[in-house]
Amino acid sequence: MKIQPIRGTHDYYDLDLHKIKLIEKKIRARAANFGFSEIVTPIFESSNLFSKPLGEQSDVVLKEMYSFKDKNNSSLTLRPEYTTPIIRAAISNKLLNKLPKKMFGIGSMFRRERPQKGRFRQFNQMNFEIFGSNDPISDFELIFISNLILKDILPNQKFELSINSLGDRNTLKKYKQSLSVFFDKYKNDLSDDSKNKINSNPLRILDSKDNKDIKICKNIPLISNLYSNEAFKIFEEVQKLLLDSKISFKIDNKLVRGLDYYCHTVFEFKNNNLGSQDTVIGGGRYDGLIKIIGGPDIPGVGFAGGLERLMLLMDPITIDNTNNHLIVIDEKLKNYGLNVFNKLHENNIPVYWDYKFNLKKSLSLANEKKARFAIIVGDDEVKNQKYTLKDLTNFSQETYSLKELIKKFNK
Ligand code: HAM
Repeated sequence: MKIQPIRGTHDYYDLDLHKIKLIEKKIRARAANFGFSEIVTPIFESSNLFSKPLGEQSDVVLKEMYSFKDKNNSSLTLRPEYTTPIIRAAISNKLLNKLPKKMFGIGSMFRRERPQKGRFRQFNQMNFEIFGSNDPISDFELIFISNLILKDILPNQKFELSINSLGDRNTLKKYKQSLSVFFDKYKNDLSDDSKNKINSNPLRILDSKDNKDIKICKNIPLISNLYSNEAFKIFEEVQKLLLDSKISFKIDNKLVRGLDYYCHTVFEFKNNNLGSQDTVIGGGRYDGLIKIIGGPDIPGVGFAGGLERLMLLMDPITIDNTNNHLIVIDEKLKNYGLNVFNKLHENNIPVYWDYKFNLKKSLSLANEKKARFAIIVGDDEVKNQKYTLKDLTNFSQETYSLKELIKKFNK
């Protein structure tokens, strides 16, 4: 029986695993500096945590959720995103009594999308959320953190920041209606896919990659015509904070994001070395969402970034291999080898044993793995109660007693 991996999933090992761990380390360091507390939640939740909050007509809910019936017939879903589970967990664990609450999580998400470069069915996200603040500084803080994390991980890459405002809740509703009216006039010229979205989800037509749709979208009504004075002020304040901090951005009035819960500020960081899946970080404000999930009526804002997309942009890395190899050249000397193996590990000194009992094979493996030292055990070493330490960078060697050997490594 040959079992294939599931399409759009990855096994991580060696260099890719190191890359993803390195990315996580940098994210956690930034999160700590900004005082975000980490949360880890289950990878599956009740399906209704996602269907209403993300939008019944969103692509994620319509097509991409991995949902299944549990034995008691309840519907469960592998989380397709992290904002709603983090909110659910904050409510379940009563974490929202001191505000603002700043939280972050890193983990796997699941979406049944068509796999391609930068788009997978199981992928990893970092996710930062601020609960309980209306202040545009919180929108700014998240864009600021995103910008720093991207620089930490990819100092040689360029990212373009686009921002938009979706106004308040009513604005988006009215905007959808005016888009439906607008696109209806062009229904014979739109692609088939977009035609089907005129009434159900006209916002998604704005993301269409079809040339005919792109042309029609050039003349769409502008959402900014529907902003309230308050929404204008908030958006201007976010822009001012970015300008004051010299974070460059462009305003993209077609930026509407794929999930339904957004209002006011939305933003995305893109990189043009990724092909069509070029958004590395996306987020925005979602006032009203926490209440929908059963929490207090407090605002929220956050972002998520795809770790695999960051990995694709990283330069090759080399692993700093500090390992040492134990080479016991004959099986009958096993016990003497075992003694040094145990003592080195008890002293926290890294050592790898291949149990080949063959000097040539073991040395070649140690070189291949770029080991720093080989600790060699042969007849002479046992006779003299010593160990030979071979420096694999210059092939010089010396013999040591066990005590001296430990001292040498601890230096
Ligand atoms: P999203 O735009 O759906 O937002 O996803 C955020 C990021 O996750 C994307 O920009 C991309 O880097 C990565 N991503 C999404 N889908 C895939 C995929 N199939 N394969 C690889 N990477 C992918 C959210 O998930 C919102 N929860 C963000 C948010 C947090 N808004 C407020 N707080």
